[in-house]
Amino acid sequence: MNNERINIVGAGLGGLAAAIRLAEAGRPCRLISLQPSERAQSVLAEGGINAALDLMGEGDTPEEHCADTLKGGVYLADPNAVAGLTRGAPDIVRWLAGLGVPFQMENGGMIQRSFGGQKKRRTAYARSSTGKALMTALIDAARRHEASGLIERWPHHAFAGLTVEGGVCVGLRVRDAWTGEGFALPGRVILCSGGLNGFFPERTTGTVANAGDVTATVFAQGVRLANLEFIQYHPTTIGISGKRCLISEAARGEGGRLCVRRGGELWYFMEELYPELGNLMPRDVVSREMTRVVRREDCEGQVYLDMRALPAEIWARRLSDLREECRHYLAIDPAAELIPVEPGIHFFMGGIDVDANHRASLPGLWAAGECACQYHGANRLGANSMLGAIYGGQRAADDLMAQPGLDAGEPVSLGILPPMEAPGDDAFALELRDALLGGLGMLRDAARIEAALAAVDALAARADTERCRNRLALGRAMLLAALSRRESRGAHTRTDFPERDEGFRKTTVISRRGDAIAIEYRAIPEEVEA
Ligand code: FUM
Repeated sequence: MNNERINIVGAGLGGLAAAIRLAEAGRPCRLISLQPSERAQSVLAEGGINAALDLMGEGDTPEEHCADTLKGGVYLADPNAVAGLTRGAPDIVRWLAGLGVPFQMENGGMIQRSFGGQKKRRTAYARSSTGKALMTALIDAARRHEASGLIERWPHHAFAGLTVEGGVCVGLRVRDAWTGEGFALPGRVILCSGGLNGFFPERTTGTVANAGDVTATVFAQGVRLANLEFIQYHPTTIGISGKRCLISEAARGEGGRLCVRRGGELWYFMEELYPELGNLMPRDVVSREMTRVVRREDCEGQVYLDMRALPAEIWARRLSDLREECRHYLAIDPAAELIPVEPGIHFFMGGIDVDANHRASLPGLWAAGECACQYHGANRLGANSMLGAIYGGQRAADDLMAQPGLDAGEPVSLGILPPMEAPGDDAFALELRDALLGGLGMLRDAARIEAALAAVDALAARADTERCRNRLALGRAMLLAALSRRESRGAHTRTDFPERDEGFRKTTVISRRGDAIAIEYRAIPEEVEA
């Protein structure tokens, strides 16, 4: 008898996509999350979702989408996994449209817009609130399966660790955030727990509710991580209310231009430096150039986004919500004023090391979405993240269903468990952030990274909870990965190794055994003909 209920941790796009896929095949699952779906990070995603639907008649193909994704990731992504992603993208967008996502229409048909690092207009979007639109549709699609009992919601439950027997993941432990009751939940596990925003409070566009604790905990349990040194800085963010507020890349996709004052005039530096893609170069390139121009003696120290020349029709039809947000949160009308912008931490290309089927290094465990390292290489293209989360969640569910199931029982109460958080955690998080940023900024070198490691080690004496010790170990792992990669590639720029070195065209594989962290490199898989 196989009565297994699969455990999915995370109720954003990846988790919902996996849950719906399982439910559609008649397989029961639990959707476990600290925040309800309505508050998942995915809701914040703005610009859109890429798919070579070729709605703009430019001859776009999944092969070109694949080539752009690999180039944008500076050839560190698995080419076969990316080929699967980009081949699957058109069906995913058609599926979403069928679920009722209000993708942008003009003249009776859906349209697509330009996004960074891509020559074709292949980003499908719902104004600049695409994440909200996708999540609304998937939450609704999941409800049908909740009613039938196939999807069982476990909101407000914190992940407390995997249950591992004989080297296989056979379940997990959670703690009810309100009552404190712990449960052992049997069944295999798919992690869709998001990025490591909580390591960088006030410096990230993402929600710090994505604390990174799931990744830190499974790392402590021996699950391998990969490519932690690749942290994406989004070029256009503004600091507000203890957060980096994102000005969507859609702003540049629709004609917004970056500039800096030089000799009393506005200099549109990206257009001069990169005539082909200009303001829509991949994010690593744009953010680096912004950092460089503000340090030049002939330039003033502030980059602006200039959207003043956008036609009224574009504001009304495609960017009305972005304009409203700027007015509301920044007291700036972007149709009339320059917006001061600077790069902010936006996305983690690294995470749980998975294969093309989203299997993690521990049998019985899968991971998808931003918590996993897949598809994005050294730098993610804008509008590939929601695609990666949905495709990855579906792929993990398919692979899991193809494996023999477990004979799993019912949840078992573990009684009242102490909270993982301690009163001093927030202050500790700020100190850890400051230590990490010393070595994980946009421009890095060995001296800065080693100083950051020393600062992290100095915090160790005060890490008196398991949670803090696990967070410190994950922080150390990020720094060690950055120190070991002695080249510049994508989002990882070493001023002491400014060139790309093809000897490092490898995945950084990171393991923890007790207090020891090991860094190794694995060759990128050879491309297999489709
Ligand atoms: O700028 C944006 O709208 C962000 C999109 C993304 O990260 O994919």
